[in-house]
Amino acid sequence: MPIIFFSSPKGGVGKTTLTSNVSVALRRLGWQVIAIDFDVQNALRLHFGVTVEDGRGFTTAVRSTRPWLEQAWDTASGVRLIPFGAIGNADNTQLERFLQDHPGWLGQHLARLVDGPSTLVVADTPPGPSPYLAELDKLAALKVAILLSDATSFSLLPKLQDGEFVSHGGDHGRLLYIVNQVDLRRRLNRDVLGALRSQLRDSLLGAVHQDEAFAEAVAFQQSVLDYAPSSVAAYDTAAIAQSIHHLLGDTGSRSARLASR
Ligand SMILES: Nc1ncnc2c1ncn2[C@@H]1O[C@H](COP(=O)(O)OP(=O)(O)OP(=O)(O)O)[C@@H](O)[C@H]1O
Ligand SMILES: [Mg+2]
Repeated sequence: MPIIFFSSPKGGVGKTTLTSNVSVALRRLGWQVIAIDFDVQNALRLHFGVTVEDGRGFTTAVRSTRPWLEQAWDTASGVRLIPFGAIGNADNTQLERFLQDHPGWLGQHLARLVDGPSTLVVADTPPGPSPYLAELDKLAALKVAILLSDATSFSLLPKLQDGEFVSHGGDHGRLLYIVNQVDLRRRLNRDVLGALRSQLRDSLLGAVHQDEAFAEAVAFQQSVLDYAPSSVAAYDTAAIAQSIHHLLGDTGSRSARLASR
């Protein structure tokens, strides 16, 4: 299915930041992007200027059995955003149990969002394993794992490459990596990035430098492409989106490739 998700075994590495910014960059490359938040923190909306009071989200649609697109925001960036919704941890636990008991249910709903060959669903996920990730894992054409250039991320690599976090290869979609928050002034960062590059080779989608513009942009509820177009953050984001765009193919072959998933 034309779905990409951003995931990570550990939290706070930049999943939501990259889901939002790369979604905007993919929209600028011509994709009809639907960004969807599967994390109870419900933070993706903050990157798109949705007010904190607004409870809209797919979890509202779940309870009402209404189409999920009714919960979407048409954001100024052109990305259609489906927030998580305003449910608490207890309701989320119930929903997670429901997902585990009803494999395929999430996929049916996501398939209804895709109304043409240029539609792309970009999903943000909670940190670590989750029932949302387990379902997305069965559906996505591209799976992105975000790492930091530190020793902990490096130590997680064997498990990731063995498919213990998300499956990949064969019919399971392609697993790609982003190394985020790289600071080339720090020797450990440079060394770990070098080691990750040689391990990951063409599975490395790209490296994203540490840049305050990411945090500042979300404070202004904008993407880095709008807030700081000449920043390193904007350059790295655009490069990641370009790579995804190339992997998904040009418009002619795009639908065929995605349909084969
Ligand atoms: N490349 C970067 N440079 C500087 N700061 C960054 C970068 N990427 C992310 N950040 C900052 O790191 C913090 C965590 O980012 P984010 O919320 O996107 O992580 P996350 O993986 O979604 O976290 P969680 O696991 O809690 O969902 C934020 O303050 C964000 O602004
Ligand atoms: Mg997040």
